[in-house]
Amino acid sequence: MKYQHEIEKRKTFAIISHPDAGKTTLTEKFLLFGGAIQTAGAVKSNKIKKHATSDFMEIERQRGISVATSVMSFEYKDKLINLLDTPGHKDFAEDTYRTLTAVDSVVLVIDCVKGVEEQTEKLMEVCRMRDTPVIIFINKMDRDGRNPFDLLEEVEKKLNIKTQPLSWPINMGRDFKGVYNIFNKSLLTFQANQKATDEDLIPLPDLNSQEIVDLVGEKDAMSLREDMELVMGVYDTFDQNEYLSGRLAPVFFGSAVNNFGVKDLLDTFIQIAPAPRPRMTDVREVQASEDKFTGFIFKIHANIDPRHRDRVAFLRICSGRFERNTFYHHVRLNKKIRFSNPYTFLAREKNVVDDAYPGDVVGLFDTGNFKIGDTLTEGEIMTYVGIPSFSPEIFKELINNDPMKTKQLEKGVRQLTDEGVAQLFTQHGGNRKIIGCVGDLQFEVIQYRLLQEYGAACSFRTLPYFKACWMQGDEKVINDFTRFKQSNVVEDKEGNLVYLAESQWYLNTERANNPGIKFYMTNDFKHEVV
Ligand code: G4P
Repeated sequence: MKYQHEIEKRKTFAIISHPDAGKTTLTEKFLLFGGAIQTAGAVKSNKIKKHATSDFMEIERQRGISVATSVMSFEYKDKLINLLDTPGHKDFAEDTYRTLTAVDSVVLVIDCVKGVEEQTEKLMEVCRMRDTPVIIFINKMDRDGRNPFDLLEEVEKKLNIKTQPLSWPINMGRDFKGVYNIFNKSLLTFQANQKATDEDLIPLPDLNSQEIVDLVGEKDAMSLREDMELVMGVYDTFDQNEYLSGRLAPVFFGSAVNNFGVKDLLDTFIQIAPAPRPRMTDVREVQASEDKFTGFIFKIHANIDPRHRDRVAFLRICSGRFERNTFYHHVRLNKKIRFSNPYTFLAREKNVVDDAYPGDVVGLFDTGNFKIGDTLTEGEIMTYVGIPSFSPEIFKELINNDPMKTKQLEKGVRQLTDEGVAQLFTQHGGNRKIIGCVGDLQFEVIQYRLLQEYGAACSFRTLPYFKACWMQGDEKVINDFTRFKQSNVVEDKEGNLVYLAESQWYLNTERANNPGIKFYMTNDFKHEVV
């Protein structure tokens, strides 16, 4: 328990949202509160443009910049906050899923006009797989959005999580007057673009007092009282353990662009969000408070600009203290490695660090030693689990355009898929190679990189699949299925059998026809298709 103080100080989390709900804006406001940036717009300029889908070099260039903001660390009220950035662009969703394996909690932003959107559902599915604690921020209250009760109901239904409002809006859109903080029993009246301080909160322990009428007027005071009565009737008192176990999401209302309600959110976040949590390996659970260092790689960033061909592996520290220039055991390769220039990111500056603690993320220059999920220890043989591959959404057959370069192509594809750019499947009992990605853009990136870095020319043939499901079951049943559905069965890089389904209908039919086979959404056989 040598580093208990350091561990308790840290909160490592990510902000997630459907594109456009306000993730970047909220990130920026958090950083302003933490003093990590001085001006609004500093993060925004690093954002991958949502509509620039045709020009992947431009996107890669911006992604290069965004490596510097992959982890934003700042101090706020004696806590050290590590905010892990997740790409907003949907073609990089797989990156986001993996980043979610490295955080201890998340803040989910929802647009009050649009409600729960498609990407929100997907991201929450990943959070729920890991029981990650979630706080919800309902944003854009300065716009005429949906009724807050309806929004909460939609969140509960679509995201399959109980909600608990910790603040409550007084109107919205043009009539938006502010939010009542149920947790602290105080009122914050709406002001655009003010960096709220603790003094701006007006304590209101009794909603029946005259004070609330003086502040927001008779009509709104009445409706707040009515809403609160309903809220108190419907929702229990806040139970932090329910939140920490991922079953209950506290909800805040505000407006990120106006910096309104953000401080409330941040203050509650540092009070209730978990410090670095224990994590499972294939051998045992590791406590953050253990003295010996362990950690895992959750993301690899390769710069595709030929002038700066560098790779950075992102290491999440899970226990003990990580030190510069110290030999650690790379479990998969069974070799000792040390790092002379590991860096962290404080106030958006890259700094070489001498040591780091659980919850921290350090960037390691990588010359090809790492694969997603690799574990580093002080010698213990174990591997962190729960960094699964999720089903891709687009599948294409890889066509070799230059048979003289077959070896290079195979090597390139293997290395790029190790980085997590895409997933590689091979036809069962054959040689056909199928690449699966979350977004179309990735195929362009792969084609470009294979040519530039490995001299291998390739093209792709679109395939009609929509989902990959890992299979497990009785050997004979699986063999029969594989024979019968030969063209739909492939192997992943580890040799696991995977069924490629053309549509939900096919998937449902095969599940119904083959009760002896279990179909999984992830390659760790933990999450069955439901
Ligand atoms: P994202 O990272 O989730 O994709 O969203 P981002 O923060 O970029 O916000 C998307 C748009 O929503 C931005 O407008 C942003 O200004 C706006 N926005 C964020 N929070 C609020 C809010 O509380 N109220 C209102 N009304 N708008 C909000 P944009 O026009 O796309 O960009 P910009 O030109 O304003 O930068």
